[in-house]
Amino acid sequence: MQKGKKRKMSTFLADGFRCVDSAEDAAKLSRCLARMEDLSDFCSYKEKSFEALNLRPDSSVADVACGLGFDLLKLRRLVPRGFVTGYDISEEFVAASRHLAAPYGSVRVVQGDIQWIDCEDSVFDAVRIDRSLQHIEDPDLAISEMTRMTKGGGTVVAAEPDWSSYQLASDNPEISATVEAEFRSTIRNPVIGRQLVDFMCRHLEIQHHGVHPLLLRSHSDAEIIFDIAQSVQRCCQQGLIENPAGQIFLENLSRRSQNGTFFALLNIHVVSGVKR
Ligand SMILES: C[S@@+](CC[C@H](N)C(=O)[O-])C[C@H]1O[C@@H](n2cnc3c(N)ncnc32)[C@H](O)[C@@H]1O
Repeated sequence: MQKGKKRKMSTFLADGFRCVDSAEDAAKLSRCLARMEDLSDFCSYKEKSFEALNLRPDSSVADVACGLGFDLLKLRRLVPRGFVTGYDISEEFVAASRHLAAPYGSVRVVQGDIQWIDCEDSVFDAVRIDRSLQHIEDPDLAISEMTRMTKGGGTVVAAEPDWSSYQLASDNPEISATVEAEFRSTIRNPVIGRQLVDFMCRHLEIQHHGVHPLLLRSHSDAEIIFDIAQSVQRCCQQGLIENPAGQIFLENLSRRSQNGTFFALLNIHVVSGVKR
């Protein structure tokens, strides 16, 4: 390794978002986020999470762990006379978000760890987080920081998956279960979705709780979002799946996608709470 160069880790979607800046293939992480933007089930749970923020045209709103910043632009449209702030730990994603938001004066993006946010108390009318508590070491600390940043009477919204609901339709349910378990066990907080109400009620008065299924019927979309081939490869490396069976499994998913019988499913919980 060249002196001064960061050591790069092999990129798996289940743990790559913990540290985007040291990922071997950060473009793979970006591709995953970008693809979701075009999928109707992702757009519909996001819409619900925006509605739950109770925004007014002049609200100040924060999106913590904002990724590539797509949601910052959507929020900006909802608060034409307000302010939008994005936070993310990744230098690369902060740069991408700043670039995206550059034409819009009322959007700013700050780099930082959401477990220790550099922000004064009671600044925002609403704060949201989307599919990121799953990757964070201490989700309770992050929710307490989001609550601290919110004004009294303001709203905090979290949207997080429950990976115990993850299902891959195949002709070999045993291999599906092994592949699903490999992804699930690599996520830092795999069942944060179903734990959200319990975490959030420690800091907030719960207002809304909805569960939204994400149903993908294309194997190529599911590959971009669920990293199926790498999950299979990891299972093969650990001796959980025999090598030819892994390849046959992937071919089966592709065939099912062509004949309309493939699906991948994941539930997202959206919970909102008010700061008293
Ligand atoms: C799955 S992405 C979700 C991005 C965005 N919310 C979206 O819906 O597209 C997870 C994000 O969490 C960020 N992240 C991970 N750990 C973080 C931390 N401790 N503090 C702030 N951001 C963090 C990552 O850099 C990444 O942008």
